[in-house]
Amino acid sequence: MGEIILSAENVSRDFKIGDGSVVHALKDINIEIEKGRLTVLRGRSGSGKTTLINILGALDRPTKGKVVFNGKDITRFSDKKQDDLRRRDMAFVFQSVALMSGLTAFENVEFGLRLAGYPYAKRKDRVTQVMTDVGLDKRMHHRPSEMSGGEQQRTAIARAIAHEPQLVFADEPTAELDTATALHVVKLFKELVEQRGMTIVMTTHDPSMMDVADRVYTLEDGEIIE
Ligand SMILES: Nc1ncnc2c1ncn2[C@@H]1O[C@H](COP(=O)(O)OP(=O)(O)OP(=O)(O)O)[C@@H](O)[C@H]1O
Ligand SMILES: [Mg+2]
Repeated sequence: MGEIILSAENVSRDFKIGDGSVVHALKDINIEIEKGRLTVLRGRSGSGKTTLINILGALDRPTKGKVVFNGKDITRFSDKKQDDLRRRDMAFVFQSVALMSGLTAFENVEFGLRLAGYPYAKRKDRVTQVMTDVGLDKRMHHRPSEMSGGEQQRTAIARAIAHEPQLVFADEPTAELDTATALHVVKLFKELVEQRGMTIVMTTHDPSMMDVADRVYTLEDGEIIE
């Protein structure tokens, strides 16, 4: 086994709901994410995939247990320290693409670089490079409404990876795409892992994703089953 970049150790997450009852969304989860690999979290609706990926990416905190990133327990980082960590080292791709409609694809990716504090002088070259990497060099100056769903999702991926994060989290990135377009996105993820050495963690129901995954964890009722 290669280097472990991220791990969940005995992670549980309870949600209290309105009527006073408690949902045990995650129960004592232990997983390891290997650097430079594509890891898939699969499972039925409600099995805990989103809850787990949010905790791995420090968007949420576990009720019990910890998340270790590059040897550091990030569970007890302050909000500010978690924000910095996410901005610098992590990236997120969601099911519905959240691009800014008034900006072109190029400007959307450039804006992401600005938020990440990427040096101004290098931004334009970097955007051109990453748009080429995702196969959209011919669509750079289109607005989201002038692109297909798959092109929009690839733009969102370009924006996520432009600042070269160590870890990319994607929650059902192909759920709103047709089969052919989804396959294109799957292939892109695979290339990013194999050719750029990225580490990707994604949730999916999509069987074609399982084929390209280096490691698959299956969740059932908040537990990992083998
Ligand atoms: N904020 C919340 N408050 C209460 N219960 C929650 C909350 N978020 C999730 N849950 C519950 O936790 C369980 C896991 O939800 P989660 O969203 O992680 O599932 P999922 O595997 O991502 O499902 P899907 O495939 O539908 O996206 C579900 O039973 C859900 O109802
Ligand atoms: Mg989900």
